[in-house]
Amino acid sequence: MDSLLYLDNAATTPMSQEALETFQEKAKSCYGNSSSIHRMGQRASLCLEGARRDLLSLLFPKESSETPSFHPTAIFTSGGTESDNLAILGRIHKLDPSRKKKFKIGVSITEHSAVLKTVEELKEQGHDVAFLPIDSCGVIKLDELSSFFETKPDIFSIHHVNNETGAIQPIEKIGALLREKSLNTFYHSDCVQSFGKIKIPFKEATLDAISISSHKIHGPKGVGALILKEKTALDPISFGGGHEAGVRSGTVNVPGIASFVTAAKEAIHHLEVCQSRCHNLKNRTIQLLNEQIKAPFRILCPNSSIPQVLSILFPEHEAAILARMLDDKGICVSSGSACSSQSRKPNRILQAMGLPTNESYGALRISFSRYLDETAPEKFVRTLHDILKTY
Ligand SMILES: Cc1ncc(COP(=O)(O)O)c(C=O)c1O
Repeated sequence: MDSLLYLDNAATTPMSQEALETFQEKAKSCYGNSSSIHRMGQRASLCLEGARRDLLSLLFPKESSETPSFHPTAIFTSGGTESDNLAILGRIHKLDPSRKKKFKIGVSITEHSAVLKTVEELKEQGHDVAFLPIDSCGVIKLDELSSFFETKPDIFSIHHVNNETGAIQPIEKIGALLREKSLNTFYHSDCVQSFGKIKIPFKEATLDAISISSHKIHGPKGVGALILKEKTALDPISFGGGHEAGVRSGTVNVPGIASFVTAAKEAIHHLEVCQSRCHNLKNRTIQLLNEQIKAPFRILCPNSSIPQVLSILFPEHEAAILARMLDDKGICVSSGSACSSQSRKPNRILQAMGLPTNESYGALRISFSRYLDETAPEKFVRTLHDILKTY
């Protein structure tokens, strides 16, 4: 469809030209197995280690005050889901190789299912798991978190940016709370929705690990990384040839990783331009919604969300139906997260924010990228206006 308007960049993004070219070039020139001793293996291995160094220097630039006093490492994975699983389960394996002990784990109630389902499984196995509440702006309640920290959790995991509302979690303040209480808690953040979009204060937040993913930043799908402060913080959760510092076995996807790191470089280099473009697109959309849409609606997390995500609640409508009608007109948006948009369940994030169940079907998420131009808000709001007139 020529006039397709893609406003679902929090679900996934189209690959950038540079990332595509890198993939193609490396798939041709670096097809060797990075573990092989011959020249093609060595070529792939050099490419892999170059990508790892480049990714780490994007996260911890050398020429700034951010130079880490520690030696972080990047474990390449198949994406955000695997990185989240590896962070939590890998830490448990490290803490107790016998797998007999039970640990105390805390997460926010609004984690992505990659974290939520992992800790639910651990709860089933007898671990003590706490799901910490958020306020009406979608942000974790720090007073309740502080009381929870009194119980000295072994692991605490919180996303940096929520995939549905765009709400930013105060990961630095959480790090300060942990420091203040001198806890040994392993502190992980799912940064899949923040990496390449806003700055991640890894060092300031005294994080132990973050998960990132390539396909949210115009890189290929099926690639991601777990960034660790200490290489030895985890034990493997799957077994094989001992690749990736022994914690993530499997022949390494070198072209995908090189392409991911190309996309990451572009995202970090364009970060401010992209933020300002998305900020303008978001504000213009809100302005046009206020001017043109007569049906009741409100913007969720207006002051606590990233510029790339706009979540609009239509309390009297079903967002899934609106999303389908928009799709008929060539506009791709989301109702709930992509993984859960097939199931007709009340939105758990909105419920956690205190919205009544009947309203929690009404959240339409639109998400911007640097590739959109200023015609996007007009087109979206005009089409939505026409749909709401007939629906
Ligand atoms: C916050 C968050 N965490 C984890 C994931 C999973 O990442 P991936 O699709 O790379 O497995 C997503 C994807 O939507 C996400 O938004």
